[in-house]
Amino acid sequence: MKIAIAGTGYVGLVTAVCMAEKGHHVACVDINEGIIKILNSGKSPIYEKDLEALMLKNKDRIVYTTDYKKAYKDAEVIFIGVGTPEKKDGSANLSYVYAVVDQIAETVENDCIVVVKSTVPIGTNDKVEKRLNENKKNNVKIDVVSNPEFLAQGTAVEDTLHASRIVIGSDNKHAEEVMLKVYENFDAPILTTNRRSAEMIKYASNDFLALKISYINEIANLCEEIGANIDDVAKGMGYDPRIGNRFLKAGIGYGGSCFPKDTKALHWLSNFHDHELKTVKAAIEVNEQQKLRLIKKSRKYYDSFEGLTVAVLGLTFKPGTDDLREAPSLVNIPIFLEDGAKVKAWDPVGIPNFKKLYPTEIQYCNTIDETITGADICFVFTEWDEIKNYDTSKFQKFMQKAFILDGRNCIRNDKGNCIIERIGGI
Ligand code: UDX
Repeated sequence: MKIAIAGTGYVGLVTAVCMAEKGHHVACVDINEGIIKILNSGKSPIYEKDLEALMLKNKDRIVYTTDYKKAYKDAEVIFIGVGTPEKKDGSANLSYVYAVVDQIAETVENDCIVVVKSTVPIGTNDKVEKRLNENKKNNVKIDVVSNPEFLAQGTAVEDTLHASRIVIGSDNKHAEEVMLKVYENFDAPILTTNRRSAEMIKYASNDFLALKISYINEIANLCEEIGANIDDVAKGMGYDPRIGNRFLKAGIGYGGSCFPKDTKALHWLSNFHDHELKTVKAAIEVNEQQKLRLIKKSRKYYDSFEGLTVAVLGLTFKPGTDDLREAPSLVNIPIFLEDGAKVKAWDPVGIPNFKKLYPTEIQYCNTIDETITGADICFVFTEWDEIKNYDTSKFQKFMQKAFILDGRNCIRNDKGNCIIERIGGI
């Protein structure tokens, strides 16, 4: 089928490449010429496993372009996969979505299906359809379908090709049938429903996972007080298939481009409908506190970081990505700097992005050895393999004092030669 996709971020680009992999002819559109140039050179502007290999494999079925008119005018299906960042009040900013909607209305010359893949507040698909019909230049039939995306960064390609489920929200039989054809070669259960339910499935899923993390983090903090072991507690809970063992890893809080934004957006929406989701509100509050958990723990030892050398291991919000959005490092490092600490940091892929925010204030290091050398205290914010597998005897060898605050419970103290403060105590 002839498919156009608006957006070259995680959702847009990964969808485009996976659709090409499944045999569709795809035009991937972005207004940013720099990004299109990178894509046309065979490189991915985002760090994502398998993506560049798949771009190369399917290069004959995919074009990257800023020419949206050409891409949209005769496409059978147009996916919208642009960002919906958080506004100051916590609601979702839909300006990028509507900018694409207006471009589609201006250009389509054939009947087509517009598929909203971006995470949008419930009811947005209705508004998109109304706006398309009011503004379309040509006398064509445009149906709007909600098809939320459940991919996680770091495993985005795998999550798309072997999705846990494909949700198709349509209020129109014809559009639903076309979407079933788009996905006919994908190996995943398909749920067809109406548009509002599809929009809700996305938020309800993400917010539930965020809630699960905040819950285990609160339990972890309590474990610390009462002398229980959070790893064993989570393991024991996870055996129950009704609970499941995933997303029960206690730590310094969730970050990323989805959970923080989607919890706030759904909470905002629930308030708007005078039906506040109190559980979601609690998940947000717990997460904000959790990001400061290690600082709180460190206060037992130091009133301030003034005059200390602080080593930071891991800058990104999770391993497998160079994305810093809502990463705990962004909350903690400014506090170290404000106190007057000397900060040294290491991350296998996150440094170039961090440098854009803090070009000179931090000493960026090439190795973990270099980062911890001479440090008084070491914070772990991301569980990269290199950190997990680091020889702990080196902390004692290189640091002033082998004092580690492990925000991901990933450092093994098997030689017992470090002081390690973990989330959840033991
Ligand atoms: C998430 C959802 O998993 C995905 O389905 C959705 O489409 C987008 O949002 P992503 O943000 O890429 O994906 O990462 P994910 O692996 O879910 O982790 C999010 C955050 O939660 C990370 O900061 C991670 O460290 C944290 N986390 C995750 C925990 O603290 N504990 C866990 O047990 C799991």
